Amino acid sequence: ANTMKGHNFLTLLDLSPEEITYLLALAAKLKADKKAGCEVPLMTGKNIALVFEKDSTRTRCAFEVGAADQGAHTTYLGPTGSQMNKKESIKDTARVLGAMFDGIEFRGFAQESVELLADYSGVPVWNGLTDADHPTQTLANFLTLAEQLDKPLSEVTFVYVGSGQCNMCNALMAGAVKLGMNFRLVGPAEYFPEGSFVEACKAVAKETGATVTWTDDVAAGVKDADVIYTGVWVTMGDPYELWGERIAQFTPYRITSDMMAMTGKAQTKFCHCLPAFHDTHTQVGKDIFERFGLDGIEVTDDVFESEQSLAFEEAENRLHTIKAVMVATYGDYPLK
Ligand code: CP
Repeated sequence: ANTMKGHNFLTLLDLSPEEITYLLALAAKLKADKKAGCEVPLMTGKNIALVFEKDSTRTRCAFEVGAADQGAHTTYLGPTGSQMNKKESIKDTARVLGAMFDGIEFRGFAQESVELLADYSGVPVWNGLTDADHPTQTLANFLTLAEQLDKPLSEVTFVYVGSGQCNMCNALMAGAVKLGMNFRLVGPAEYFPEGSFVEACKAVAKETGATVTWTDDVAAGVKDADVIYTGVWVTMGDPYELWGERIAQFTPYRITSDMMAMTGKAQTKFCHCLPAFHDTHTQVGKDIFERFGLDGIEVTDDVFESEQSLAFEEAENRLHTIKAVMVATYGDYPLK
């Protein structure tokens, strides 16, 4: 049953395992119905605000296309497109948007910002990425794994390689412990996860039977992995100057075909939230190649383009899972 009507979607830590499983089933049904041309619109006449303090391709498009498929209308407020957090507080903007819209998506820097919007708008608020979390990305990843792996999600050994102090690691850890997975972080010791979010994840793991561990030892950390996931080493909003030190710290943790072979499983999947620096076809990729000789930064091109890579399957599933989050907020979609 759908228990998320009228609720916010700020972090997967707020959802029960049953609610996450429901959203994945709903996303699979919405995906199948869209492809079969028989999707049922449950959001006709709804007005959705899309507030982006940071740019986006996938998240923005998934909310816009998902809302349009469901009969809703969206208004995009980009990084320079509103008064929020400049001439007007988030608290005041929340009350204005809440009076005009039926739901608000927010992407930005502070988790506190999305929480303020939820506290003061009076309408459901969905987190489209903050510095602390990226819950819609995790749903897209889990739908992809459910489609591609030949085992239940609760039996998956999920290895995140990179920084344990980033939104993507937090978001995946939160989802993994809720669903009872074996979650490992492999990366430099100075970037191991810490703080209240991690403590909350560990407490959930005790209830669900999940495991959460971290190591700086690549061989031990990736052994038996069903999934190896990574993200960029310098994220949106971080200063460009960070690249020098991050290259020095993270190069032992870039995903290569040698690392994929170290899992001992030919069928290990590679996942990435995108955008990815896997070749020199971006300005950053070109700069890093010229400065440090790295052709492909966090992942090499051969792994990114391999049959094991699910990067674009996950990108497509941003649409179906984000649509599921919105639809579950408003009604009971027929699952049969
Ligand atoms: N992965 C992700 O959030 O992509 P966008 O920044 O393009 O939304």
